[in-house]
Amino acid sequence: MGYFYVVPMLFLCYFMASFSTSSRDIRSDQSTLLAFKAHVTDPHSVLTQNWSMSYPICSWVGISCSSRHHRVTAFNLSAIGLEGTIPPHLGNLSFLVYLDISDNNFYGHMPNELAQLRRLKFINFSNNKLSGSFPSWIGVLSKLQRLSLSNNNFSGLIPDSLYNLSRFGNLHTLMLDSNKFTGRLPENIGNWSKLSFLYLGDNYLQGMFHLAPLLEAYLSLHFCRTHII
Ligand SMILES: *[C@@H]1O[C@H](CO)[C@@H](O)[C@H](O)[C@H]1NC(C)=O
Ligand SMILES: *[C@@H]1O[C@H](CO)[C@@H](O)[C@H](O)[C@H]1NC(C)=O
Ligand SMILES: *[C@@H]1O[C@H](CO)[C@@H](O)[C@H](O)[C@H]1NC(C)=O
Ligand SMILES: *[C@@H]1O[C@H](CO)[C@@H](O)[C@H](O)[C@H]1NC(C)=O
Ligand SMILES: *[C@@H]1O[C@H](CO)[C@@H](O)[C@H](O)[C@H]1NC(C)=O
Ligand SMILES: *[C@@H]1O[C@H](CO)[C@@H](O)[C@H](O)[C@H]1NC(C)=O
Ligand SMILES: *[C@@H]1O[C@H](CO)[C@@H](O)[C@H](O)[C@H]1NC(C)=O
Repeated sequence: MGYFYVVPMLFLCYFMASFSTSSRDIRSDQSTLLAFKAHVTDPHSVLTQNWSMSYPICSWVGISCSSRHHRVTAFNLSAIGLEGTIPPHLGNLSFLVYLDISDNNFYGHMPNELAQLRRLKFINFSNNKLSGSFPSWIGVLSKLQRLSLSNNNFSGLIPDSLYNLSRFGNLHTLMLDSNKFTGRLPENIGNWSKLSFLYLGDNYLQGMFHLAPLLEAYLSLHFCRTHII
């Protein structure tokens, strides 16, 4: 007799649980974006005007969400004059796939919290004033396909954890040109199966390279200002 009650009740509980979970998660993404907005300087009032609580965050400029989970998947705030450090809160956007803050005036270090973003495929921090060393946690981002740190003030050695990315085999583009990187490059960098674009010019790197033929063509174009010893 009770059987007929049990099944619909379970279904209802499941439905309510999944509904409340997803609305809580989009609220967590919203508080992350609001923390970001409060943290940075926005001289052209782009976020001040557009990132309004009266509209859903998925309609905010630079933000895209997945249709399935309704979570933020792209954070694309390129070339709008933003200034400040990168707030660690971004590490809470756990569904993020694209992160592009190129062509702004961000300075300081890349926060370690970004290592939590395990779905990232695309990072572009080019053309800012970021400094510090190459983040060794890059080696845990197994899905990473394109990484651009060009034209910043990064310094120090390129860490061995970059080898990890070669093992995962997804890295397609690596742009590190116009920084102050020093030391030797991984010697087998030319053997990385998917790597097609490698920009290293205008640094203080040295080393011997065993290059795949395709890669060699690009290196000769973009290596010209590297100080090779
Ligand atoms: C914010 O920008 C997006 C994308 O440019 C636009 O579609 C939307 O209408 C803007 N919202 C407001 C409130 O200005
Ligand atoms: C970010 O926006 C710019 C300008 O709209 C566009 O060219 C670029 O492809 C976008 N990047 C991503 C990762 O969506
Ligand atoms: C988001 O990240 C910040 C800094 O990493 C942390 O202090 C905060 O508790 C997190 N907030 C949420 C809602 O997860
Ligand atoms: C990163 O952004 C810069 C400036 O917006 C652009 O020139 C570069 O091609 C981008 N890198 C990738 C891998 O898309
Ligand atoms: C390399 O990847 C593995 C597997 O994802 C991870 O456990 C490890 O911490 C990574 N090592 C480095 C140096 O990034
Ligand atoms: C770049 O980094 C160096 C230290 O590596 C520092 O002395 C210099 O002031 C930085 N320049 C800018 C423009 O941030
Ligand atoms: C690169 O790959 C080739 C062929 O698979 C191999 O003979 C060579 O030893 C490798 N070089 C390095 C530096 O790993």
